[in-house]
Amino acid sequence: MLKKNNSIKLIKYYNLINYSLIYNNKAINRYKKENFEISDNKVKSLNLLKKTISSIKNCDLKKNATNIVFSDGNPKSRIMLVGEAPGANEDQEGLPFVGRAGQLLDKMLSAINLDRNKVYISNIINYRPPDNRRPTEEEIKRYLPFITKHIEIINPKILVLLGSTAMNAIIGSDVVISKMRGKWIKKKIGSCDLSVIITFHPAFLMRQPAQKKMAWIDLKMIRDKKTDLKI
Ligand code: URA
Repeated sequence: MLKKNNSIKLIKYYNLINYSLIYNNKAINRYKKENFEISDNKVKSLNLLKKTISSIKNCDLKKNATNIVFSDGNPKSRIMLVGEAPGANEDQEGLPFVGRAGQLLDKMLSAINLDRNKVYISNIINYRPPDNRRPTEEEIKRYLPFITKHIEIINPKILVLLGSTAMNAIIGSDVVISKMRGKWIKKKIGSCDLSVIITFHPAFLMRQPAQKKMAWIDLKMIRDKKTDLKI
């Protein structure tokens, strides 16, 4: 500890060399990235959720995975995208949509003037299913409370569900993507009133490029809704 006199001398010295001395004992905000400083409450809730997911017990997905894949993007965004589950690249990097499907997703976002600083991205499942298989019903049931809480914390206005796994988990298992995509659905999750849109998963679009024209329609709907909601 510095004695009072020494502190005063030190402050005078810093003033002399024109150094701005700021005393701040606030906790480090891990989500303070570029233009998106978020409230301490949101940071705490996100950190707690991540900790809760990583302490899940008896989960084979977690046992086989390298990293938890929690989220990417801007936690302050009013637009949240939810995919299915991490693949090999995501598992290695601990971030969603960083492989080939992620590159296509970035292109799709950029076509409507969005990027990862302007949206928030997560998945239904936070650990990579082995061999990139689809998550089972049981796994989805187990992880659903986490993504539900995640959506509540982010509190977006627009929720984009990428592909049928995300759609069936959030909207219900009795619907098919060919009928559901390209429509706005009003949905309440916790205290959040959401405009939900379902579109094709980028990995599906890589296999079925002819469907990109449908995805473009959905993207334009997102762009227009963003304008309507003044986001
Ligand atoms: N596919 C997904 O659904 N999520 C990812 O993070 C990567 C690929």
